[in-house]
Amino acid sequence: MKSIPSERTVLVTGGAGFLGSHLCDRLIKSGDNVLCVDNLFTGSKRNVAHLLGLSAFEFLRHDVTFPLYVEVDRIFNLACPASPIHYRFDPVQTTKTNVHGAINMLGLAKRVRARILQASTSEVYGDPEIHPQVESYWGRVNPIGVRSCYDEGKRCAETLFFDYHRQHSVDVKVVRIFNTYGPRMQPDDGRVVSNFIVQALRGDDMTIFGEGDQTRSFCYVDDLIDGMVRMMNSEKSLTGPVNLGNPAEYTMLELAETVLRLSGSSSKLTFWPRPPDDPRHRQPDISMASRELDWEPRVTLEDGLMETIDYFRRLLNSP
Ligand SMILES: NC(=O)c1ccc[n+]([C@@H]2O[C@H](COP(=O)([O-])OP(=O)(O)OC[C@H]3O[C@@H](n4cnc5c(N)ncnc54)[C@H](O)[C@@H]3O)[C@@H](O)[C@H]2O)c1
Repeated sequence: MKSIPSERTVLVTGGAGFLGSHLCDRLIKSGDNVLCVDNLFTGSKRNVAHLLGLSAFEFLRHDVTFPLYVEVDRIFNLACPASPIHYRFDPVQTTKTNVHGAINMLGLAKRVRARILQASTSEVYGDPEIHPQVESYWGRVNPIGVRSCYDEGKRCAETLFFDYHRQHSVDVKVVRIFNTYGPRMQPDDGRVVSNFIVQALRGDDMTIFGEGDQTRSFCYVDDLIDGMVRMMNSEKSLTGPVNLGNPAEYTMLELAETVLRLSGSSSKLTFWPRPPDDPRHRQPDISMASRELDWEPRVTLEDGLMETIDYFRRLLNSP
């Protein structure tokens, strides 16, 4: 069914990345005009290749650490490498992307009176003392560690969002995203779901850190995008931060075993020392999202993993 075009132009920074490209798909489907801005550091034009010919879609190669002058009605700010391998590759640039990027996008939102949503992260909770994490928890983050460029960068971005809101009345929304997975993740980005799937499909040993008893929760990309769009469309008074994620909790060992079973792989499990600052538990309390946005994840881990395994199987078999 064809959607009715809207007059609205929506800017998606980081739009050629994993989450950003799914968001572009979703916005185009709902009839928005989309301006996708990305410097292609971790994203790829491949992720949006199917949109490039559409008149409602425009791609602009640009680094958000530099100002951007465009006319838009809404901004989703997703630009930032999200996997530890990528954000630790150039940590100074990661902090700049988070902080200067936020300043530039908030400045743009202020100038053109656009509503702006920040893709923040559960990493703002650091290695949490409370479980599951609620939005009112302030977190326990190491300010000088190897992950700090990302964690503290995202925390500072949140500060900027709320100061632009208080000081300049910018219409802001902040979501704190917990581990999300799905098609278009990169095979070599070191995130646990893509790691396990790629290792399983290649028949390589599967690397588990520590004993594999640390837990994570995994949200399928379609659910997450639905939550982000609901947040963007919510009442002006709802600024957030609002947690978005799937509260179902799994140990790394359970995840590895599920991937092995669903992919039919005979890879072996191997155990390695845990990396520094690796949180033991991460699980969202999503009561606020459920109450305010009438949102909760619907896709089960098995269904989401099947889709993702199919994607990686096609990717690894393509020339
Ligand atoms: N995927 C998750 O589980 C998750 C969890 C928490 C938060 N997030 C946040 O969601 C956002 C998207 O994450 P993702 O998983 O799609 O990661 P991704 O790395 O696939 O996407 C990030 C995109 O931002 C682009 N980018 C990076 N630096 C830029 C810059 N300076 N200027 C312009 N573009 C730049 C990259 O090229 C890439 O396309 C990030 O802000 C991330 O912190 C993601």
